[in-house]
Amino acid sequence: MVQRYAGGVRSSYRARMAQKADNHVMQGKRILLGVTGGIAAYKSADLVRRLVEHGAQVQVVMTAAAREFVTPTTFQALSGRAVRTDLWDPAAEAAMGHIELARWAELVLVAPASADFLARLAHGLADDLLTTLCLATAAPIAVAPAMNQLMWSNAATRSNVDLLTSRGMHLIGPAVGDQACGEYGPGRLLEPMEIVSQIAPLLAPAGPLVGRRVLLTAGPTRECIDPVRFVSNRSSGKMGFAMAESMRAAGADVVLISGPVFLPTPPGVRRIDVESAEQMYAAVQRELPGTAIFIGTAAVADYRPVACAPQKIKKNSETLALELTRTTDILLQVSAGAQRPFMVGFAAETNAVEHYALAKLLAKNLDLIAANEVGHAKAFDSDDNSLLVLWRGGRLELPVSSKRELARALTGVIIEQYLAQLAARDRDSAAQHDSAELATREGARAS
Ligand SMILES: Cc1cc2nc3c(=O)[nH]c(=O)nc-3n(C[C@H](O)[C@H](O)[C@H](O)COP(=O)(O)O)c2cc1C
Repeated sequence: MVQRYAGGVRSSYRARMAQKADNHVMQGKRILLGVTGGIAAYKSADLVRRLVEHGAQVQVVMTAAAREFVTPTTFQALSGRAVRTDLWDPAAEAAMGHIELARWAELVLVAPASADFLARLAHGLADDLLTTLCLATAAPIAVAPAMNQLMWSNAATRSNVDLLTSRGMHLIGPAVGDQACGEYGPGRLLEPMEIVSQIAPLLAPAGPLVGRRVLLTAGPTRECIDPVRFVSNRSSGKMGFAMAESMRAAGADVVLISGPVFLPTPPGVRRIDVESAEQMYAAVQRELPGTAIFIGTAAVADYRPVACAPQKIKKNSETLALELTRTTDILLQVSAGAQRPFMVGFAAETNAVEHYALAKLLAKNLDLIAANEVGHAKAFDSDDNSLLVLWRGGRLELPVSSKRELARALTGVIIEQYLAQLAARDRDSAAQHDSAELATREGARAS
């Protein structure tokens, strides 16, 4: 029986769910914020505010060039801590030496990161306090570059960034857009809230899903016609990637199996790239053991060409018939398997959304389904979406918002339903245990 919620209840419920997913992941976390010399340094003041609002302890370290743009006093007032600027400051060194400071940090975030700073970091220089701390820390390092688009595209910067990311440093942005210098292109500092949500998963996980594994599929699949052609669909993978990010923010160990998409991997998420439905199924089977929650957001092709031509098919005839055969239904296989996790499916429908979604929930024995209307520029490839969430005994409408916001709200609902299912199972097994024990005692008394 599908239960309907009154509107007021629904919106407060949604807010509660989104908050649950966040679960104060930054509360008490120690973040060392490096500010380098760029025009975007003023935005770091707002970044400090946001981090503090999220409960983080923020220690700001400024380069000499950064102090040409903003005064340390601003950061001191916002962070409530004296700003560190100098490697050769005896008083600051006596209070907390630079090695101690490097150990104190649970995350080093450099925002904005100048081209000069990235170059120095890539080459292991330790010629000021910030670079020295970066070399001396065991904490993850995230950099949010900000610079003129030509500086960003310069081969030297590109190769420095590649080197740093290949060593495990996390790259946050930059965004593409209008620049302070009047040009347009890549090199804008991401907005502070965007930076906050991207670093959350890098902090030692906290949240209701710590120690639990979440396996997601995302994006489209490509089914080979010949070496240069394929059958595919319009899925962008955005919803699946947003779900992976919010599941990670809830503390889960997240494995994301993705079809071909043009999206960066959410921080802290392990990503496996595949192309076809068959490859996706193989990867799912490999990664399934130990999975607590399976979320199938991928738009897996239902059919693939019976054969993939070994050579490019020539246009020798007026018509060409392509024989298709069914692909494996990944969701159904996982749901019917012995290692069945909590199952979440997505339904993309062009009409009768609720009817088909409910049918899919039941037919595939899912625990929860998130349905949306697709086609006519809706859902696929767009940044916004709306969802209808159904589960046995519940129904929730999530109105149009960004896929990231929807993902947070949906994550909250999934967590609540998953934990409720675990609790019910615990109650059942406790009841079974009690009645078995009672039977044993009565048997003993009777004999
Ligand atoms: C007005 C002005 C704006 C600047 N903006 C940037 C910038 O946005 N990004 C950048 O990488 N460098 C920028 N620079 C150059 C850096 O400040 C310079 O490379 C400096 O050495 C960086 O030092 P740091 O990495 O120690 O902070 C700017 C310089 C000036 C004078």
